[in-house]
Amino acid sequence: MTSSSLSEFRKHFPATSKGIFTDVAQRGLIPTPVHDSITDYLTSRTDLSWNKEEAFNMVEDTRNTFASFINATPSEIAFTKNVSEGINLIAGAVSWNPGDKVILCPDLEHPANVLPWYNVCKLHGVEITAVDSSGGHFDLDRIASAINERTRVVSVSTVSFSPGFVTDVIGLADICRQRGVRLLVDAAQSVGILHTDVQKLQVDALAVATQKGLLSCYGSGFLYCSSDFAEELRPATLARFSVAAEEGSHETTLTDQQFQYAPAARRFDGGNYNYLGITGARSSLKLLSDIGTPIIETHVRRLSARLATGLLQIGLPVCGGTPGNHLGHIIAVGVSGGGRHYTAQDPAMNILHDRLVKNGVHLSIRKGVLRFSLHGYNNEEDIDQIIDIAASNR
Ligand SMILES: Cc1ncc(COP(=O)(O)O)c(C=O)c1O
Repeated sequence: MTSSSLSEFRKHFPATSKGIFTDVAQRGLIPTPVHDSITDYLTSRTDLSWNKEEAFNMVEDTRNTFASFINATPSEIAFTKNVSEGINLIAGAVSWNPGDKVILCPDLEHPANVLPWYNVCKLHGVEITAVDSSGGHFDLDRIASAINERTRVVSVSTVSFSPGFVTDVIGLADICRQRGVRLLVDAAQSVGILHTDVQKLQVDALAVATQKGLLSCYGSGFLYCSSDFAEELRPATLARFSVAAEEGSHETTLTDQQFQYAPAARRFDGGNYNYLGITGARSSLKLLSDIGTPIIETHVRRLSARLATGLLQIGLPVCGGTPGNHLGHIIAVGVSGGGRHYTAQDPAMNILHDRLVKNGVHLSIRKGVLRFSLHGYNNEEDIDQIIDIAASNR
């Protein structure tokens, strides 16, 4: 049943017949239903059949769908344009005092989860407590020891962009809760592939964009913010969908400064929506919900273990070694940290990368490693072909 639903799922991705696509950590494949819904949107704007009331209904339907996708309530979801915007919205809305601290592990983070915090340092006199990672992992003991009475926020990625290990978010949330610190996660690399339940994870906020595991467009994203956290946040920017509107109204008729923020995360909605991006995201969420992320995660973790084991057997330096809990959908090969954002210093890795690309494999180089990344549309054949190509001199 599972393997047949996964092979049905793969059929929605015409690009799977054009090569071996293992680069969702950069961007996912667009499935046909997403392509079609976006085309329909453009047609409706072209032939004047577009209706704004229906568009608002579509937006709310997408909010509801994403909320159930991650086990949140709809008012805990705001629409954003990317991960960076989601993190900036939270960072800009905390009532900071000079000397407050934010804990980060900059050596594992994408700039999206570093620069927003540098900005609050500059604007509000906040200080960053930088914690070293350990062997490519967020080190929970080090983070726990770094927390003090001035720490307000810990911000980590659920899966790092390189070397791509899965973070123990539940363990970290436990530490943060006990110490009265808010936990924000950059979930760019997990949502849509690894099952995400914010009630289980116990995070205060989660930012994601739709071009990777959510299989849709650039320039569209979601911000989850728990009601409890959101109610203490004051958005740095305000627009009409960020304020409490009268029942049944999408517009506000406010004429003075007596306003209330919209409930919970809705206060971050801002002005008009990215209807095109949200239309695409709605289609992909439907596709992903139909199959279910628990099934996708199990499948992808099995494929990752198969790839990591095969590459280890032919003598390649797979980061993290033998497959374990650290392995989600990203398999990294090379020296983690042995390169800049898009490069690897080791010539052997560049030669292997070029051979893989020449043979139709889509992958990335990130911070010294070859990064393979998988989704539900990958199958065993993809994995075995990659191992064959890596082992050969083709
Ligand atoms: C961990 C992580 N965070 C964030 C991003 C992207 O951030 P944004 O959506 O703001 O461009 C990426 C990849 O592009 C990423 O790997």
